Amino acid sequence: MKESKKDLTRRELLANLGPGVAVLGMLGLLNESIAEGALDLSSLGRDSLDSMRKHFLLEKNLAYLNNGSLGPCPSHVLQRTLESWKELETNPVSQGYGPFIKKMEEVRAKAAAFLGCGVDELAITSCTTESMNMVAQGLELQSGDHVLTTDHEHAGGAECWRYYARHRGVIIDQVNLPSPSAAEEIVELFRKAMTPKTRAISASHVTYTTGLRLPIPLLSELARSKGCTLVVDGAQGPGGLQVKVKELGCDTYATSAHKWMLAPKGTGLLYISRDAQKRITPMALERGYQTYTGAVGTRNIPTILGLGFAMDFLNAIGLKRIEDHCLSLRRQLFGSLQEIESIKVVSPELEELASPLVSVSLPDGVQNSTVAANLQSKHGVVVKVLSGPVRNGLRISTHVYNTRDDVERLCAGLRREIG
Ligand SMILES: Cc1ncc(COP(=O)(O)O)c(C=O)c1O
Repeated sequence: MKESKKDLTRRELLANLGPGVAVLGMLGLLNESIAEGALDLSSLGRDSLDSMRKHFLLEKNLAYLNNGSLGPCPSHVLQRTLESWKELETNPVSQGYGPFIKKMEEVRAKAAAFLGCGVDELAITSCTTESMNMVAQGLELQSGDHVLTTDHEHAGGAECWRYYARHRGVIIDQVNLPSPSAAEEIVELFRKAMTPKTRAISASHVTYTTGLRLPIPLLSELARSKGCTLVVDGAQGPGGLQVKVKELGCDTYATSAHKWMLAPKGTGLLYISRDAQKRITPMALERGYQTYTGAVGTRNIPTILGLGFAMDFLNAIGLKRIEDHCLSLRRQLFGSLQEIESIKVVSPELEELASPLVSVSLPDGVQNSTVAANLQSKHGVVVKVLSGPVRNGLRISTHVYNTRDDVERLCAGLRREIG
């Protein structure tokens, strides 16, 4: 979106005013930006990916490299979502339990096509955590059952099993993911850690720590051969990477649409294969997978419609083009980070295990949170501070609105801050 002369003047003015006035002013700017966001989607497929940034409300001069935490919603998507919301409020019952139910179902069908599964296998949720909780609850594990997982799981994919361990006597076994890794080596570790009582393997598609893309098709074969369920936490997958769940072969797949699918915050998906539905029966899906049933209750209707608009946006650009762009920025990022001597790149180099997330471990004596704060305040670059298995780490993630310049800015900033 081109910065109008009027906006610049207003921004300059706001910079000189107090914070309260500035917030009100920014809301005004937001409305203008949203109004400018009306977009003919058919042009997106032809536009250069280096020009995508204009479709987002990101602060001017901000290199946002933390899509892995939350993705920005395109202004076009936000505008359509708000329009729907206004329409809903004109007559909540007639609209909300009338035409909007049908519209939500259309979004569900679109989401099923997006992940490559049947609409009867796809539920819309509010996030990955909720989806994972639903799967775990629906598995009805018993005392003495085992769940096999990894040491790189996010709380959103791990708490559901910890609940079972605390309240139901379920035993959690853990594979420590090696770095660097090879696909077969990873599968071998899982195979060795399985017990006759392992009822589920629960693993990320892409780890939030190092961006390692796990060999899900191989893990699916392993799970099937042992008669256990493969539960995948796909929070860091669809949208940045092309994901077709039937090709992965897993039993369930959970994701957050507010990350890589660039949908409004509070939207997620859950796939449970037809076969797995026989043994996974979440309470909320007791009356079917539709967006509104007696078992799931009233939904956040506007954001669900927003999810549909976000998928239209991504589909119009082209999912393969987006993945290629993200992985090409990752290659640039990986190479440039490796040249900075004092830091260690902890993400996999092998393309088959790689994703648009790249993490580094900083040297002792340099605090990751301080570096991240300085990157933002002095260089206008946003990255994620990592805690957990990556020691003193930072994570960088790139999406369709990022460019090679953003990556260069990050690397220049890191050199300045770390040396
Ligand atoms: C791998 C993984 N799983 C689950 C989550 C939780 O996502 P949400 O808060 O959208 O449920 C995240 C968030 O970063 C994640 O990276």
